[in-house]
Amino acid sequence: MAPDLKICRILNGMWQIAGGHGYIDREKAISDMLRYHEEGFRTWDLADIYGPAEDFIGDFRSRISSLKGEEELDTIQALTKWVPQPRTITPSIVTENIERSLRRMRVSSLDLVQFHWWDYNNPYYIDALKYLSDLKDEGLIKHVGLTNFDTDRMQIINDAGVQIVSNQIQYSIIDRRPEVKMMPFSLENRIGLLAYGTLCGGLISEHYLGRTEPSTVELDTLSLRKYKQMIDAWGGWNLFQDLLLILKQIAQRHSVSIANVAISYILGKAAVAGVIVGVRLGIVDHRSDNARVFDLDLDKSDRDSIDEICAKANNLFDTIGDCGDEYR
Ligand SMILES: NC(=O)c1ccc[n+]([C@@H]2O[C@H](COP(=O)([O-])OP(=O)(O)OC[C@H]3O[C@@H](n4cnc5c(N)ncnc54)[C@H](OP(=O)(O)O)[C@@H]3O)[C@@H](O)[C@H]2O)c1
Repeated sequence: MAPDLKICRILNGMWQIAGGHGYIDREKAISDMLRYHEEGFRTWDLADIYGPAEDFIGDFRSRISSLKGEEELDTIQALTKWVPQPRTITPSIVTENIERSLRRMRVSSLDLVQFHWWDYNNPYYIDALKYLSDLKDEGLIKHVGLTNFDTDRMQIINDAGVQIVSNQIQYSIIDRRPEVKMMPFSLENRIGLLAYGTLCGGLISEHYLGRTEPSTVELDTLSLRKYKQMIDAWGGWNLFQDLLLILKQIAQRHSVSIANVAISYILGKAAVAGVIVGVRLGIVDHRSDNARVFDLDLDKSDRDSIDEICAKANNLFDTIGDCGDEYR
């Protein structure tokens, strides 16, 4: 994403440990993190507001250090977020929060702080970003990024002279809003996009192919419920089944899974630095399946047949707005 920030292009998403995705056992979770590390999935996406995620990174780093030596820590990237309530932001508020993350994660400098802001009517987001940049100059942060900012605000931030390296946004075969404005802007300004929701919480998988429409009760994680609403807005369950069928045909041609095709499709898009895949640590893992993405090359006819189905769907940019507007 930046010359001194190399990441694994499939990142491990830690929102799933914040609740609503099954009981997470701390010990099992940390042991699982070691397995992700061993298999090369060494980039973690987290946030100050994802329950114990920052503390898990702290524990995990200690474990790695004692098992493999301190140098091994340099092979891990932990990308956190700062998600403050909109209010007047002062340098001391920013410093206090960043120092808290440093302590929890047991690092001397944060690899990336992805900044979220709930309310554009409150203009203090620019101050917050400037103070974050000051902390970057002081060495407490290596890079400043954004999450869920729209393109117009990215322009404002750019015009204010704040240097950002990334924006984390929802981006999947279903939700192509980034392609309208954000992708060209990001390419022009060398900003990497980190995609989430690429598997729609697991709905884009064999598990849901040929299934009747699940009720909210049947969808047993917050993630599944969130993205089912996205599918409803996109075109509904029948069209989604048509899409899954096409994805399955492509997957079979390449001897991979539907999830592999969905991730690879987004990874192949311009400006996309990585796809964040949610992990339910200690409960279930898809590491060996997801590792196949690194050897998968979709061809033009694969992409065209996916796009053909999507052309029948609603344009979410028209109905929801630019990236992040679903949060505001
Ligand atoms: N910035 C933001 O506002 C924001 C918002 C949402 C998410 N995120 C980030 O993005 C991450 C991704 O989370 P998400 O909620 O968007 O979920 P997601 O990545 O779309 O879906 C994750 C789920 O997909 C399933 N899965 C993964 N690999 C699979 C495979 N190979 N085959 C079949 N199923 C597979 C797993 O379900 P099972 O566990 O049930 O098997 C997993 O829990 C979060 O953890 C967080 O880091 C950020």
